[in-house]
Amino acid sequence: MKAASLLAPITKRLKGKVALITGGAAGIGESTARLFVRHGAKVVVADVQDELGRAVCNDIGSEETICYAHCDVSRDAHVRDAVDMSVSKYGKLDIMFNNAAIPGKSSKEILSTDNEDFKRVVDVNLYGAFLGAKHAARVMVPLKRGSILFTSSVASVVNGETPHAYSATKHAVVGLTKNLCVELGRYGIRVNCISPYGVVTGMLRKVMAELGFTEEEKVEELVSRSTVLKGVKVTAEDMAEAALYLASDEARYVNGLNLIVDGGYSTTNPSFSSAIAQSFA
Ligand SMILES: NC(=O)c1ccc[n+]([C@@H]2O[C@H](COP(=O)([O-])OP(=O)(O)OC[C@H]3O[C@@H](n4cnc5c(N)ncnc54)[C@H](O)[C@@H]3O)[C@@H](O)[C@H]2O)c1
Repeated sequence: MKAASLLAPITKRLKGKVALITGGAAGIGESTARLFVRHGAKVVVADVQDELGRAVCNDIGSEETICYAHCDVSRDAHVRDAVDMSVSKYGKLDIMFNNAAIPGKSSKEILSTDNEDFKRVVDVNLYGAFLGAKHAARVMVPLKRGSILFTSSVASVVNGETPHAYSATKHAVVGLTKNLCVELGRYGIRVNCISPYGVVTGMLRKVMAELGFTEEEKVEELVSRSTVLKGVKVTAEDMAEAALYLASDEARYVNGLNLIVDGGYSTTNPSFSSAIAQSFA
């Protein structure tokens, strides 16, 4: 963690709010849990990595501020219980961050795509996101307020770089965001998503290791070479800051947005330039 992030923020942007973060035991979810607590929120971390999730919660704060719920997002009863736990323990649910996902197997070719793996990716990344939104809406609609957030991916706007199931589910999450924002807007509930790129978390490490890149520095270098914005080493905290903005009242009129946090990566398509470069190689 950067030294600056250890400082207490002057303004607590989530003071009095309660958040549930799926996939909060590691990576972007963990960083978001840390940032949300620093900004005054009470947080429920929901994950399948129980030991890690509990250790992360203990490290962040006491049970009065943060607690862990075992929750496989693809199981309705688990998501229902995690949402109900937020309400019974901390009194309400203001922010539902549907962030958990899996990459699935690495094949990008349809003929070698494993059917069961495809279904599991859909179950976790899309059905899990749907369940999170559904149970959040159940407790938010009667109060006529709330913020539902999803983590999509740059794979929702750049195609051909990830396996079909991952790409399809991340597109679908954006569709779910926009469709839900229309329905839930009438209850004062905002629905948005963030689309990260290139954060070296457990997920990216696993994907890159399958491609033969096991050194973290090499992965960081590849990400840095592929991005438009130079001189910035992207971290999970950059994504947490985007989630903080969308969850906070500063974004009170922002609804239905896919906030792409990729240093501009998705704005360009360098394949023509590289074809020219290759023709001189
Ligand atoms: N890292 C990146 O560069 C990147 C890029 C684009 C999108 N994303 C998205 O960011 C989100 C977070 O990923 P990350 O990079 O932090 O990965 P990560 O693997 O570090 O974290 C994902 C977390 O989700 C949990 N999880 C997995 N399956 C679950 C399930 N069924 N129920 C509950 N929890 C489950 C894992 O245990 C883990 O703690 C994901 O939605 C991912 O698709 C990441």
